[in-house]
Amino acid sequence: MPGGMHGRSNAARLLPRAARAATSVPDAPGRAARVLLGISGGIAAYKGAYLVRRLRERGIAVRCAPTLAAESFVSPLTLEVLSGERVYGQSYLSRDGGVDGAELHVEAAQWADLLCVAPATANTLARLSLGLADDFLSTTALMFEGPVVVAPAMHDAMWRKPQVEARVEALCARGVEMVGPVEGALASGERGLGRMAEPETIVEAVCRKLALPEGAAASPAGPLAGWRVVVTAGPTYEAIDPIRFLGNRSSGRMGFALARQAALRGADVTLVAGPVNQETPEGVRRIDVVAASEMQAALEQAAPAADLVVMAAAVADYRPRERADRKLKKSGADGMVLELAQNPDLLAGLASLAPEAMRVGFAAETHDLEDSARGKLEAKQADWIVANDVSRPDIGFEATDNEVVVFGRGGAPVRFPKQSKDELAGRLLELFAGGGTVSS
Ligand code: PMT
Repeated sequence: MPGGMHGRSNAARLLPRAARAATSVPDAPGRAARVLLGISGGIAAYKGAYLVRRLRERGIAVRCAPTLAAESFVSPLTLEVLSGERVYGQSYLSRDGGVDGAELHVEAAQWADLLCVAPATANTLARLSLGLADDFLSTTALMFEGPVVVAPAMHDAMWRKPQVEARVEALCARGVEMVGPVEGALASGERGLGRMAEPETIVEAVCRKLALPEGAAASPAGPLAGWRVVVTAGPTYEAIDPIRFLGNRSSGRMGFALARQAALRGADVTLVAGPVNQETPEGVRRIDVVAASEMQAALEQAAPAADLVVMAAAVADYRPRERADRKLKKSGADGMVLELAQNPDLLAGLASLAPEAMRVGFAAETHDLEDSARGKLEAKQADWIVANDVSRPDIGFEATDNEVVVFGRGGAPVRFPKQSKDELAGRLLELFAGGGTVSS
């Protein structure tokens, strides 16, 4: 059996090393609780982003459904990056589900354990109360069978109106939990009762409804809590002389998305980054490298303690045999010959460096995707190979989206349709941590 890990049972692989050491009878991790967060169009909508983060810190999976008006206050991209999930925004609906949301409201309603609407404007409260179904959020709410938490936000004069009161009473009578509004500064600059409750208060209400542990002291959890994850990202540059190098077009987006999504899921993440122009995701330890030899040295430090290593970097296969100390001058001859030496294969080297870790490689292919990916799975002794077609301009190198086929050590390949790299990163991590199970 190649690689130390392939002889272990799948169940043992599902737990981070610390937990594996603590128990010999591991339980497969239960799936995270799921909240569909409806965001309607008031100034408090920007707090939706904050709310997503607080819910994620509790280990809750969140999908957002901003109304059209809410998208003016908080961008779907922000919500997507923070949640690592698809956002049921207007562009998503028109791209993948028809302008009216087609069947996506059914999917969303079935996916969620709880619907939280925060902020809920007077208009949204009325539509929820009356059972209108004229946009994605209201249609999904009408479809949804589980618990509902609503955090109203509006001017206090509106909140006190009998027509609003009647809507709130009707919703409460149907078991909807109202959180707030609270007294405080309003968008108008006045003070009054109409401000959205603080995200922490809303999260407590959500946790109570879902019977999850309450309290700010609750440890940040997530499906990857306790996991030590190492991700490589970006290209390597192999120096020819002080100003020239061999490199490739990797932007680092795929690897940074994996690091970000692993951290949002509670993992302890080390990101080994080649030369890229990407912001370090919050909570992620970053080691910057340039050449493959430096990436190898960083992996030698970080990988032995890891539970999961994901090699999304486009590591150069070759480097110039000699690096000139001074800028090479034109010789006047017709051309020049650059002699290359082969770089070590870092992913293959992990088999001895991190035999206990789950090891994942990416395969950048332009043709024969399946055969090449399967070949790399064997040759590099990986547990998973994520294959992407890098001949397509809309996915792979530099693109914001990716589409992949994942090959594992058993079972059929798992296909992930084109989606944002952040969304895909979340799905891939679920696949790896879940031992081959993918959620819808
Ligand atoms: O960074 P982006 O712009 O977002 O683009 C993402 C991506 C296209 C770079 C990414 O999705 C991807 O495919 N990464 C792997 C690129 C690659 O080097 O593929 P490969 O088929 O040549 O290598 C297979 C695996 O071996 C990779 O995991 C690679 O990290 C690893 N490898 C390769 C050579 C080498 N000397 N050592 C290695 O460890």
